[in-house]
Amino acid sequence: MATEIQFGDDRSPDAGLVDRALNGEVFVIRGAYNRFQLFKTLITASLDGIGKSAGENVARRAESEGFERIHEWVAPADIPAMTDAVYDSVKPLASGFLTAFVQQAFPEAKTLYYEETPNVRFHIPYDLARAQKDSYKSFSKDHGEGKITAHGPHRDSWLDCPSNGINLWFAVGPVRKGNGLTIYETDYQGDFVYKNSGDISDGEKLHRPTTFDLEPGDCVLFHTDQIHGSELNRINETRFVISFRMSFGKPVFPNRHYHKYVNADMVGTPLGFMASLPAAMQASFIRTLPWRLSEKLSPRPKKDIVAAPPETIGIERDGKIYIPIEAAPVGAVRGVSAAYCVARISDKEAVALSRRCPHSGGDFANGWIHDGAVVCPWHNLPFDTKTGRSPCKTLAQVRRVRCDIVGSEIVIDPTVKEAVVETG
Ligand code: FES
Ligand SMILES: [Fe+2]
Repeated sequence: MATEIQFGDDRSPDAGLVDRALNGEVFVIRGAYNRFQLFKTLITASLDGIGKSAGENVARRAESEGFERIHEWVAPADIPAMTDAVYDSVKPLASGFLTAFVQQAFPEAKTLYYEETPNVRFHIPYDLARAQKDSYKSFSKDHGEGKITAHGPHRDSWLDCPSNGINLWFAVGPVRKGNGLTIYETDYQGDFVYKNSGDISDGEKLHRPTTFDLEPGDCVLFHTDQIHGSELNRINETRFVISFRMSFGKPVFPNRHYHKYVNADMVGTPLGFMASLPAAMQASFIRTLPWRLSEKLSPRPKKDIVAAPPETIGIERDGKIYIPIEAAPVGAVRGVSAAYCVARISDKEAVALSRRCPHSGGDFANGWIHDGAVVCPWHNLPFDTKTGRSPCKTLAQVRRVRCDIVGSEIVIDPTVKEAVVETG
């Protein structure tokens, strides 16, 4: 579980946070809103960007009524342009913001390097975003997943980020469980196959992640090697977050050396124009130069590495699927065929459902059961096992089929569709 830290009135967070984070500890640092004056400049810059794109009236309402309501005043189609405008306003603040934060939070830290452009993240409720699927997809192609769309589980270092990086994920507006961040802390040291896109491969099974409730000014601090992702926004609040990546000492790029990292000590000095040189003068930069050039000329569709086939533990006979009961212990979800999985809700109850999530095909067989619901492992979305529905009303129901516990076996009949049991 994440460690909670409070910015006190008279003291900074405990020393040693950087090393602890680089060893897998996740921190929630609370109270930056009051303690850390610079946080307010981040809000002012954000409002400035919102005002320029969506109009002063929207900016004033966001300021007085909350960023979480922004989808009430900005059309889903205008969210990409507004996000770009906020990018423009906050980018010049990165150096001052991070330098001041680091002095207060990590007084013992070595030379700060930071990713030149912070990440601006507006996630409006999914049911509103869905109609803009195509335009949000093309925004994500340019800016990366997780800015206005939900990002599946990944390590930043699987893609184009350093392996010695720290993520600082700042809640500008409130963040709630149901529209926030997932960190798969239990899987920190796990060895997983991942795709060229940087996302975890289909057949990999994760443990239930940590999720967060954050107030404006709170931040989550975690190693770029933590597997993390976004929850599909299932509540009626927009979450607005700005995140920064940084490293102490030169960033180390195990895969693609893509992002520009700036040496904070050089910013604002006569050598400021060369501040990105120290991080660039590394073998990883030269090695990936051809890839970077070709990306710029024509971004390629990402080819996925073929992973191990998903597990199928059922035996098919006479059109039915049989599983020994001990293969699906209480609390587990297991893949029984290419199309179906079984969720063992309790001693006496097992539910069979189609294994592909209607959002974007996450494999429920790699998910888990929480509060009686089957949860999709990719964006932490729960599906009611009695109705097959999720809180996202625009998503299709999951197909549920006949499933009985008969003696020492679970027997599934995919030809008999279960009726929806309304839970009221
Ligand atoms: S919630 Fe996104 S794939 Fe299931
Ligand atoms: Fe990430």
